[in-house]
Amino acid sequence: MRILFFAGKGGVGKTSVAAATGMACARQGKRTIILSLDVAHSLSDVFDLEKGLLDFNRGEPVRVHDRLWIQELDIQREIEENWGDIHSYLSTLLRTSGLDEILAEELAVLPGMEEVNLLLYINRYVRKETYDVIILDCAPTGESLRFISIPTTLEWYIKKIFKVERTIARYVRPVARRVYDVPIPGEEYFDTIERLFERLRGVDRILTDPGITSVRLVTNPEKIVLKETQRAFMYFCLFGMHIDAVIMNRVLPEAVRDDYFRDWRKNQKRYMETAEAYFSPVPILTVNLFREEILGPEDLALLGEEIYAGRDPLDHFQEGAPLELSKEAGGYRIRIKIPFAAKGDIRLNRISDELVIRLGGYKKHVMLPRSVAAARSARARFEEPYLVIDLGDAEDGKGKG
Ligand SMILES: Nc1ncnc2c1ncn2[C@@H]1O[C@H](COP(=O)(O)OP(=O)(O)OP(=O)(O)O)[C@@H](O)[C@H]1O
Ligand SMILES: [Mg+2]
Repeated sequence: MRILFFAGKGGVGKTSVAAATGMACARQGKRTIILSLDVAHSLSDVFDLEKGLLDFNRGEPVRVHDRLWIQELDIQREIEENWGDIHSYLSTLLRTSGLDEILAEELAVLPGMEEVNLLLYINRYVRKETYDVIILDCAPTGESLRFISIPTTLEWYIKKIFKVERTIARYVRPVARRVYDVPIPGEEYFDTIERLFERLRGVDRILTDPGITSVRLVTNPEKIVLKETQRAFMYFCLFGMHIDAVIMNRVLPEAVRDDYFRDWRKNQKRYMETAEAYFSPVPILTVNLFREEILGPEDLALLGEEIYAGRDPLDHFQEGAPLELSKEAGGYRIRIKIPFAAKGDIRLNRISDELVIRLGGYKKHVMLPRSVAAARSARARFEEPYLVIDLGDAEDGKGKG
């Protein structure tokens, strides 16, 4: 069983790379499914499928090649069929004004239905062993980050809030249908959530098991795209997911000598070096810009060969986490494997949301998630072969439980 996530900024080539990888896996004889949440249905477009076929198959897997299926989830249908109670309650809630602040905040953590549905499918396919390989064509970075936080959030919600809320609702409902204008959810709402949680159980372990799940970040050699890729890199690390490759797509081929592209080439070269510094030791697989857009199984097969260049797409390209980011009491801890026996003074420097680590001739930029960047203090020490950095609120004296 193998699960591959393809994530990255909008338009970098996630769908094409996910589809090409799917083709490569299926050609090896693996039963492969590519899942997508994209409402624009670009997955079926890259396979050049007839529209009618998809309308007929609304949201169900469609076979596109030998041993290869694609599934574009139809969230409207999923909600109608599975999550009616939750959905109708939440929409009533959202329409209601004058919501008690705390209650509103707690309820707002209920994660997006689309992502929950995708997780349900993953869990179902893993439990039933329907496929050998599950490939995820993720939404642009922001949304896929929300997606990876769902198992954690849900668990927190169920443990901390759900039970209390249910009890309160039980007591309050007979007395008043509305408290502060907030409609009180019925038992069906709670039952549905409970069933949902049951069906999701275990999916977080699957997603954080490096033996099963790998994240591949798709990016381009451009400044803004790279910046977002670094952020995603940190978030996936924070949620304990394992990144095993960075796919550097749309690199201008050597053959392009046209003077018009001179600056493009120069800058791409520079950003590829930057990327190396950011993502090492995670390997970067480079992919040239094709002569035209990638369309249909033949193009996808070519793209697959270009990405993996004779390697097995199912391999684990990176063993061990290159960087671990964990939440600790009072702050965060970053553990970085130092590539050589670097010694000497460690110098930490913070430039907005980036942490710059200098150690002799070694220099590393680490993009911090927003919540981590807000930390007041940073301390570093060696724990061979790691550099351990503690970021905390030590100086602001606000003890948080
Ligand atoms: N290496 C490449 N060479 C040429 N064209 C490419 C390459 N990679 C992707 N494309 C083209 O770029 C366009 C966008 O690619 P794709 O749809 O795969 O990106 P995406 O990251 O999934 O976008 P979105 O964020 O909108 O889902 C497509 O037309 C695709 O054919
Ligand atoms: Mg896409």
